[in-house]
This record gives sequence, C-alpha cells and structure tokens, in this order.
Amino acid sequence: MSKLDWNPDLYLKFDKERIQPSIDLVARIDYNMPVKIIDIGCGPGNSTQILVNRWPHSDIIGADNSPAMIKKATDDYPDQKWILFDAGKDHLNDTFDIVFSNATIQWIPNHDKLLKKFAGLLNDSGVLAVQLPLFFDMPLGKSISGIAGQSKWMAATQGVDELFTINPAAYYYDHLAKYFSKIDIWITDYYHIMESQTAILDMIRTTGLKPYLERISYEKDKQEFENLVLEEIKQDYPLQSNGKVLFPFKRLFFVAKK
Ligand SMILES: C[S@@+](CC[C@H](N)C(=O)[O-])C[C@H]1O[C@@H](n2cnc3c(N)ncnc32)[C@H](O)[C@@H]1O
Repeated sequence: MSKLDWNPDLYLKFDKERIQPSIDLVARIDYNMPVKIIDIGCGPGNSTQILVNRWPHSDIIGADNSPAMIKKATDDYPDQKWILFDAGKDHLNDTFDIVFSNATIQWIPNHDKLLKKFAGLLNDSGVLAVQLPLFFDMPLGKSISGIAGQSKWMAATQGVDELFTINPAAYYYDHLAKYFSKIDIWITDYYHIMESQTAILDMIRTTGLKPYLERISYEKDKQEFENLVLEEIKQDYPLQSNGKVLFPFKRLFFVAKK
C-alpha cells in the first residue's frame, strides 16, 4: 500500500458510524427493479453491501481509485464485481439505472463536470444518489483548517483545504436541475456516540485528517499536529456525564431522478 493510499482496516474500525448514511441514502431511492448499479468510491465494499441487500438480483459494480480499497473489497466479497476506476479521470462505456456515491465526491474536484459525467452514466429513468460530509461546517473541520494555517504548519499544509471539494446545497440544486427532473436534497446531523475524545481523532485520522498528516514529513511533527487537533476536540466535544462524547457529524445528501 503506498503512503498516499487508504487504509481499509483502520477505515472500517468505525464502520457503524460510516455505514448509516448509506442505509439512509438507499432508503430514499425510489427504483423498483434496477438492472445495473454502480457504487462510485465503494471503498472496502461496505456501502456496496447496502445496495446488494436492497437489490440482491441487480448487477452491482463497486468502483474505486484506491488499489488498497479494491483489494480489500475483492478479498472480503470475492463473488462481487470490483473495478479500479478514477471518477474524476476515467471513462466507462456503460450505463446504469442507479449511480450511487457515498462519502466520496468531496475528494474529487470540479463538481459541475462530475455531475454531468454522473448524469451521462445513467439510463433514461436513472437515479443519482450522493452523500458528502460538510466537513468545514463542523467545529472539527474548522479546527483542523485553523491549525494548518498556523505559521509552523502553513508551508507543509498549504493547499490541503482545497483538496476537498464541498459545495452548498444551492450549488448542487442548480447543477442537478440541468440533467434531472426530480431532485431531493437534505442535510442530516448524525450524533455519533464516541467512547472518548481520542476516538474522534482515531475516526478522522484515516479520512479528513489524512491529507494534512501526509504533508507533514516527520513522525514527531505529525504527533504534535495531532495533539493540537485533540486539544481542540476536547474543547468542542465535551465529555457527557457518563464519560462518552457526542460527535455531531453533518452530511449533505441528494437523490436526483432523470
Ligand atoms: C470515505 S471513503 C467511502 C467509502 C464507502 N463508499 C463508504 O461509504 O464508506 C472514500 C472513498 O472514495 C475513494 N475515492 C476518492 N477519490 C476517488 C476518485 N477520484 N475516484 C474513485 N474513488 C475515489 C477513496 O479511495 C475511498 O475509498
């Protein structure tokens, strides 16, 4: 696994918290008997299983640009179809009834282009279903971005905030309306109940914090950066009376039908 690749095992450590948005997104898709479905940014295949459970007779493909994630998905679900595919760059000569993408498009730039591409992957009555985290609307995202902007880290982490592409609901509505006739958009705050404040750090180390840590060269500096993030977590997410921690996580969803 290259340094910049994902770590599927660490990612799945918080599977319960990560899977609920896929369950909620699938529940809002109104499509009776889809023949072909693609899960773009399928990761280790966790979100794909929600699609398989709902439509066990459909032809479902999991697509991801991470070799480590595709290997994990193939190892865990050898009977399913998995492809290495970069949604920002690669093309597919195929169309689908459902294009599904959970917690992925924030890693891909140019969402106007991407939504057009997703629309082009759909059949006539096809459905696009997407969820993305509103990372910088959360105290945690703001803290990480603020620490990265401090003089000690600025040179190393410059430009990392821009690796995330996250637009407001109004942006998605305007672009979706060009290709789709029926559009639903909503935002959910998930209150994850965490065992400790450190568990919040553990959960985001493999996702939102990952690109910042990757830019910092030395292990001791990475540790210092993480300690600063943990201090902010302690202020923003206090202990509950029983010692647990509520971690509200804001996510934007849209489902659009052609
Ligand atoms: C946070 S994980 C989401 C995994 C899974 N869908 C879930 O719901 O838990 C984001 C996934 O997006 C993938 N990804 C990021 N950029 C991508 C791209 N340009 N094309 C395809 N997959 C991409 C990553 O490799 C990673 O597996």
